[in-house]
Amino acid sequence: MEKLVSNWYKVGSVPENYIFPQETRPGNLHVPMIGEGIPVIDLSEADRSLTIQKILKASQDFGFFQVINHGVPERLMEETMRVLKEFFELADGAKQHLYSEDFKSDCVLFTSCMNYGNEKVHQWRDFLKHSCHPLHKWQHFWPENPPRYREIVGACSAEVKKLTGRILGLIGEGLGLKNGYFDDDLTERVILSAHQYPPCPDPSLTLGTRVHVDANIITILIQDHVYGLQIFKDDTWLGVPPNPHAFVVNIGAFLQVISNDKLKSVKHRVVTNTNKFRASAGFFVTALDDSIIKPAEAIIDDKLNPAVYKPFTAKDFISHYFKSDGDVGATYNHFKA
Ligand code: OGA
Ligand code: NI
Repeated sequence: MEKLVSNWYKVGSVPENYIFPQETRPGNLHVPMIGEGIPVIDLSEADRSLTIQKILKASQDFGFFQVINHGVPERLMEETMRVLKEFFELADGAKQHLYSEDFKSDCVLFTSCMNYGNEKVHQWRDFLKHSCHPLHKWQHFWPENPPRYREIVGACSAEVKKLTGRILGLIGEGLGLKNGYFDDDLTERVILSAHQYPPCPDPSLTLGTRVHVDANIITILIQDHVYGLQIFKDDTWLGVPPNPHAFVVNIGAFLQVISNDKLKSVKHRVVTNTNKFRASAGFFVTALDDSIIKPAEAIIDDKLNPAVYKPFTAKDFISHYFKSDGDVGATYNHFKA
């Protein structure tokens, strides 16, 4: 437990094994906020084809968008973030049993990432991670404290699963895929990773989450009111303004492949700050290990739009991604047609 950043973050300076190499440090922390620029999609908009167009354009240009009027009760989002915060605030003794350095356990409380033992530099964050779909299969592994944890996070997970189906329905229709393309095994795994980013004495030296793309189908994220998430667009870092009542949606690497590079899985990272705890809850929606990921038949065309990738299993991609130390370019290359 003493490894958790929240147990020692009040140090005077950033420990050496948290200092990122010069070229991957945050640099200028005052990056522009793309409040206007990052597309905000209103899901209550009556014109379905307009919504589809907006989502597709956002997914091509940014790989990211926020959704509002999404139908998930705002109160439930707030309660979810509150109960996660309460979990992290429990005394060590009350969460000790979930602390684990073994990523085969389903529900784990840990720090940085599951590659802690092999990474050169650690990330300035703690997290709680567990599966959340189907609920009945996983819920009994979840924290029993705070007492409302299972009920609130369960309700939120179910809502997020529904919302994901809706968003992927719109994306599938926009791409010209058959109805229900993403149902079943492509979205049968949902993992919640709840992050806590403690204040940091020098945010210019380290990162809360290092640069990466999400190796999944799609991510649906709640952020609290503290800024930190940045995306890489047109060779610069842009901030995603926090809106605790919106979901930040981002296209995962598998969806980029299925769309044959029409949609983009964009690099992103999280910076720290000197005085506030930041929290986020990411629902990572992804395929089962043995699911085949490949450019969708309906999209490719031997002459006009040949497949950019050969088929692969979800687990092969993940294993290459980790072996390449998170170099997604190298991973894509490995699976190029
Ligand atoms: C991630 C991620 C963003 C955040 O865990 O993949 O991008 O705001 N997190 O915590
Ligand atoms: Ni991410």
